[in-house]
Amino acid sequence: MPRSVWSSLTHHFSTVAARYNELRTTDPEPIELIARSLGQLPSVTAANVGCGTGRYTMELGQRLGKRLFVYFIDRSKGMLERLRLDPNLSAFGGFDVLRSRAEILPLPDATLDCMLTFHAIHHFDVTKFLQEAARTLRSGGLLYVYTRFRDQNGRLIWGQYFPGFAEKETRLFDEEQLMSALGSMRHLTVRELTHFSFRRTASLDCLLQRVRGRHYSTFCMYEADELERAIDGFTANLDERFRTREVIDWVDENVLLTVERV
Ligand SMILES: C[S@@+](CC[C@H](N)C(=O)[O-])C[C@H]1O[C@@H](n2cnc3c(N)ncnc32)[C@H](O)[C@@H]1O
Repeated sequence: MPRSVWSSLTHHFSTVAARYNELRTTDPEPIELIARSLGQLPSVTAANVGCGTGRYTMELGQRLGKRLFVYFIDRSKGMLERLRLDPNLSAFGGFDVLRSRAEILPLPDATLDCMLTFHAIHHFDVTKFLQEAARTLRSGGLLYVYTRFRDQNGRLIWGQYFPGFAEKETRLFDEEQLMSALGSMRHLTVRELTHFSFRRTASLDCLLQRVRGRHYSTFCMYEADELERAIDGFTANLDERFRTREVIDWVDENVLLTVERV
């Protein structure tokens, strides 16, 4: 990623860090699946890459408790500062917070039982990241990738009704691209692709608060006046489709890829 793109994203992630957990919805379902598949291990050494405020891994900590040691890894200082304040960190057997890029992980070879990445892989250089996953996972270790594909992004409330949203978000993978990146990687094999659908409802006010809080970094790709025009367009589109501003409903879709280090 060019430095200029990362510096505007750095600013974005630092600014949004304090409110990130309240702006984003954390779904327990993928964590339940991950916790079940790791449940047999007496202890688990994990790395959460692109961890942000660590909200998903906190959920895993609630389920695996002291059996879990986590390396929290992210490029953003602001996100990691917010993470360090989280009282849920006391649930873990141990943890370390490392400011680093996903493409060069400060971890030894073949030591991890699992690596987790939530809503972040589209920010990484995927080939370098997968090489690092293959290097740091032990044989039989698992990589979990939670993300949404480009077509799923187009079906979000934003993708359908927010002018320019689906077109501007060019970073997400489509299924074929990600599968092909994984397929070309020696030592990594996809074991499972699980689809999740979540029915959501929110008021228009609540949706607009999320846009102004830039809960998706896609909203940083709008100039200030362009964003205001898009908000007007979004409001008009929702008024026409829903005829109410109180209860707007849609379905969010995500996928969880389970990949084994063979
Ligand atoms: C959309 S946020 C998701 C955060 C968290 N995983 C979650 O779901 O709440 C993406 C995160 O990836 C981090 N990130 C982006 N590019 C990165 C890179 N190359 N290496 C490490 N972290 C990166 C950002 O700083 C940000 O915290």
